[in-house]
Amino acid sequence: MLPFRSRGNRPDPYQVWLSEVMLQQTTVAAVGPRFDRFLARFPTVAALAAAPEAAVMEEWAGLGYYARARNLHACARLVAAAGDFPEEVEGLRALPGIGAYTAAAVAAIAFDQPVVPVDGNVERVVARLTAETAPLPGAKPRLAALAGGFMADAEARARPGDFAQALFDLGATICTPRAPACALCPWREGCAAQRQGIQESLPAKTPKRARPLRHGMHFLLTDAAGQVLLRRRPPRGCWAACWKCPARPGARRPGQLGEAEEFAPVPGLAWRLVPGTARHGFTHFELEMLLLSASLPRLVPPAGMEARPWPRPAARCLR
Ligand code: ADE
Repeated sequence: MLPFRSRGNRPDPYQVWLSEVMLQQTTVAAVGPRFDRFLARFPTVAALAAAPEAAVMEEWAGLGYYARARNLHACARLVAAAGDFPEEVEGLRALPGIGAYTAAAVAAIAFDQPVVPVDGNVERVVARLTAETAPLPGAKPRLAALAGGFMADAEARARPGDFAQALFDLGATICTPRAPACALCPWREGCAAQRQGIQESLPAKTPKRARPLRHGMHFLLTDAAGQVLLRRRPPRGCWAACWKCPARPGARRPGQLGEAEEFAPVPGLAWRLVPGTARHGFTHFELEMLLLSASLPRLVPPAGMEARPWPRPAARCLR
């Protein structure tokens, strides 16, 4: 049983919304324990709204895509101020961090509004059921319109929340991307793709253009006590306020040990190239990273700075 399912009770809109935001870019398996832990710390939308942002970010650590946590907190404040979640898709969509999919999921699951949330699983089920061969992403609006058509069915319309979650489960367990278990599928009879034997080739996808390769360099500076020099990203934008080692931004040319002096956070150190590379795929490019490491006898955590003797001009300058 998925921990965020309501087990026959009337679903709590706060819990539905929280689970849907967590599930936006994180797998069901990873969300399970984190959902329970988050709820134990912030049991209601009012508790979440009243918490400092740093506490919310801390509880989100490891789930990734931290803009979600900041939006979650901003959304909780608006909802707490308004008294409750809006029940309809339009009102939900106007809230921070809630896009078309999440608005429909919350409206259907928490409030039984007659809408069908369309994620990748649902697109796949619909493309197969109707043998829609137009490729994604162009076919998204068409598949969404076809999915909306499910609500013409009286049984589905009577229980939109259960219908949505049954559709997610069908996509996750039976109508899987590869080797779908058609023999077990309750919709086998009505499935146009399976009649034509083309289910495995759907949904069709427009081939992706190859992404250019960029090269980054990260600098790991440690001291004898194992402390690490970190920088914080700006408060807005990509990975806002996240911490990282100082880095040379991605460039067309591969990084080289000889460049350490130019980009390193501290000059004059003996930087060593750590063997191997790491990769990360961004939407528009692939990033390959080198890691250079060096050590200093002593780095001092910010809390320890004030307690030390400083020449007065140096202290003034830093202040
Ligand atoms: N993915 C997103 N929302 C889900 C839900 N409520 N159940 C299962 N998978 C999901």
